Amino acid sequence: MTILVTGGAGFIGANFVIDWLAQHSEPVVNLDKLTYAGNLGNLASIANDPRHHFVRGDIGDGALVARLLNGHRVRAVINFAAESHVDRSIDGPAAFIQTNVVGTFGLLEAVRAYWDGLQGEEKTGFRFLHVSTDEVYGSLAPTAPAFTEQHRYEPNSPYSASKAASDHLVRAWHHTYGLPVVTTNCSNNYGPYHFPEKLIPLVIHHALASKPLPVYGDGRQVRDWLYVGDHCSAIRRVLAEGRLGETYNVGGCNEKANIEVVQTLCAILDELRPRVDGQSYATQISFVKDRPGHDRRYAIDAGKLERELGWRPLETFETGIRKTVAWYLANQDWVQDVTSGHYRDWVERQYGQAAP
Ligand code: NAD
Ligand code: DAU
Repeated sequence: MTILVTGGAGFIGANFVIDWLAQHSEPVVNLDKLTYAGNLGNLASIANDPRHHFVRGDIGDGALVARLLNGHRVRAVINFAAESHVDRSIDGPAAFIQTNVVGTFGLLEAVRAYWDGLQGEEKTGFRFLHVSTDEVYGSLAPTAPAFTEQHRYEPNSPYSASKAASDHLVRAWHHTYGLPVVTTNCSNNYGPYHFPEKLIPLVIHHALASKPLPVYGDGRQVRDWLYVGDHCSAIRRVLAEGRLGETYNVGGCNEKANIEVVQTLCAILDELRPRVDGQSYATQISFVKDRPGHDRRYAIDAGKLERELGWRPLETFETGIRKTVAWYLANQDWVQDVTSGHYRDWVERQYGQAAP
């Protein structure tokens, strides 16, 4: 059997595919549109693995998805594909509606038609796992308890609203058509191959490039950080044992204010790659205009996932962030490739035209 991963050239999807192939013999079909966030360089370590079939395409292309599902007798779909950056959603929400809402709808319809045609164990064993975010729950007051799966949806940005819409579609396809779905709602990830538009990789890159480290507003917004490998292990666990129609929160119990994260990154860089002038990278911190509608605090209660499926993260923030900084220091070629835009050249040569 085979699994179909969508968005597997992005940050979390690429980590998932690499980890999957390291731990399973089962092949992966990797469907990715290669938007600006998709980078085949993320998959360089498995480029020659015959179990990895990369296909460039859109999750909303029903005919393509049907061909892949039928051609590979896919037994599970793990849907990572999305527009994922909040700031971009504020600048231009259309792509978020198109992929996260319309695209997910198209994918669900293609999967439903395929699943309808399955028989026996192939049908009962089939799974559609939808990868979502804690941002669908909105923003927490400073001392409010962490989000459980019962927390009502209160998305505040175009990104989180589009993800919330996709979660509702997935839920409805289960309740109405019986499609065997599970959904995960995860907190902020960090780790290798994180695109340097997001806080942690951006700060590491700017620090080393002697640029200002932009902290939005007062820097006191809180995020709950999870190492990407732990998110991937949670998804594998939910895929294997999650109850149909259920949602599972995934998080690391690592609530940190943004300014604290930035200061930690500066301290690790001061130790591992000191500035030539002997000053701390923290001198580059620059408070800038806040993000419109900026959610103040997210925190995840992952108790259900631990109680029901025995999942716990392996990394603490301290171990994970140190590993992450070390990865970025050791992979400056990857950073250079992304920040210079060179990673797009191959897509243009191969496909004639890069997706937006
Ligand atoms: P990313 O932006 O790094 O990667 C997204 C990938 O999806 C890219 O490779 C892109 O090319 C691909 N893609 C976009 N539109 C597509 C389409 N129409 N068809 C096919 N492929 C398409 O995102 P990420 O950070 O890896 O996030 C992956 C998923 O996890 C998203 O659904 C996101 O909402 C969710 N999530 C992310 C985080 C986080 O902290 N990054 C946390 C919780 C949940
Ligand atoms: O909570 C899960 C979500 O985490 C995912 O669903 C999203 O896909 C992912 O992008 C992430 O969203 P955030 O908006 O929390 O991540 P980002 O890295 O963009 O920002 C983290 C925090 O840091 C946020 O409070 C905004 C702030 N920030 C961000 C950037 C890029 C800054 O202060 N300066 C910056 O330059």
